[in-house]
Amino acid sequence: MKVISIFIAFALLASLPRAHAADAMKPVMPGVGEDAAFPQMQGDDLYQAACQACHMPDGVGATAAASYPALAKDPRLKSKTYPITRVLNGSKAMPAFKSVLSDEQIVAVVGYVRTHFGNHYGDKISLEDVKALRQ
Ligand code: HEC
Repeated sequence: MKVISIFIAFALLASLPRAHAADAMKPVMPGVGEDAAFPQMQGDDLYQAACQACHMPDGVGATAAASYPALAKDPRLKSKTYPITRVLNGSKAMPAFKSVLSDEQIVAVVGYVRTHFGNHYGDKISLEDVKALRQ
């Protein structure tokens, strides 16, 4: 009995570092690596998972290694075409999301940024809007 529990303890210990190594290898930035699809479906969850690392909580943007524009009070979000195109295709230091976000997810996250952070662009975005802009 004792031998078995010692064996189990060793087996558990041996598996620990490997589990950590696997976590560490997960891609940090969205849009990079095969593991990068997002399971979230709500705009706020998607924003936190896919956008916030660069555009910051509250969409205030940041200046670090690159300049991450503020999405807060952003007059360029008035046109729905502009943010949809940015999210689909990326731009400079922003990755393209067209292969990791579905049309539904892009509707949700673009709708979210256009109606939060001091933006009040409430006109609805449809799946057709996104489909039409996918190349
Ligand atoms: C890796 C960092 C990064 C991530 C993640 C990211 N962005 Fe960006 N984003 C940028 C950068 C950098 C720019 C400016 C690109 C340029 O100058 O052409 C930008 C520009 C934008 C713009 C244009 C803003 C303007 O006023 O011109 C929008 C809209 C935008 N991002 C939305 C999003 C959304 C929505 C997400 C999440 C789905 C997201 N971004 C994820 C870095 C990022």
